[in-house]
Amino acid sequence: MSLGLEVRRVTPDDLEEICALDQDSFPEPWSRSLWKLELARLHRIYLGAFKATELIGFIGGLLSHTDFHIITVATQKLHRTSGVGSVLLFQMLNEVDDLEEGIETITLEVRASNKAAQGLYRKFGFAPVGLRRGYYQADNEDAIVMTIENLQHRSLTDRLLEIECKLPFTVLVGDAKK
Ligand SMILES: CC(C)(COP(=O)(O)OP(=O)(O)OC[C@H]1O[C@@H](n2cnc3c(N)ncnc32)[C@H](O)[C@@H]1OP(=O)(O)O)[C@@H](O)C(=O)NCCC(=O)NCCS
Repeated sequence: MSLGLEVRRVTPDDLEEICALDQDSFPEPWSRSLWKLELARLHRIYLGAFKATELIGFIGGLLSHTDFHIITVATQKLHRTSGVGSVLLFQMLNEVDDLEEGIETITLEVRASNKAAQGLYRKFGFAPVGLRRGYYQADNEDAIVMTIENLQHRSLTDRLLEIECKLPFTVLVGDAKK
């Protein structure tokens, strides 16, 4: 039997854990004040994956007209390669699939050297469409732009159902904590 992993919208109450995970996951983490602002902004979806009450992963996305942009995703080092990133992206795309805004593309940038993240995105149907040279200013690394284009809700729903069967966790969708 698969284990349960709670996925829910994050709130300002989760700020400390989000900042800690961000710092542990990225060479250029956001400041606490930027995270605080970001979590309060409109047209964003931020989800956290919780094992018991501990935040072990997060994902963020931005709705911009007909595009949905994946801003960030991270799993705690101890829990990587065990399906947490897949659960997060699965739930995010489920929410995108339920939006009524007429999303046509889902886009993201990923470091050219980040094979783990590229593997995660490919699993969900993202394909590389371009390169942004020197996109990451800290070290001048290129970004690969990946997208799901001409989004057909029917095919996204089918792909998500297919992926759901193989997830190592049962996804428990929770309300944001009050
Ligand atoms: C990218 C990241 C979020 C993946 O999270 P995760 O919880 O390990 O992901 P999963 O276990 O669900 O793996 C999903 C897929 O990613 C790929 N993948 C994950 N880790 C991998 C690795 N070390 N090497 C190669 N492929 C890998 C595989 O295709 C895997 O699918 P599979 O399990 O069906 O084979 C995680 O490595 C991370 O937090 N990295 C640091 C932050 C980061 O780089 N974020 C991405 C920004 S663009």
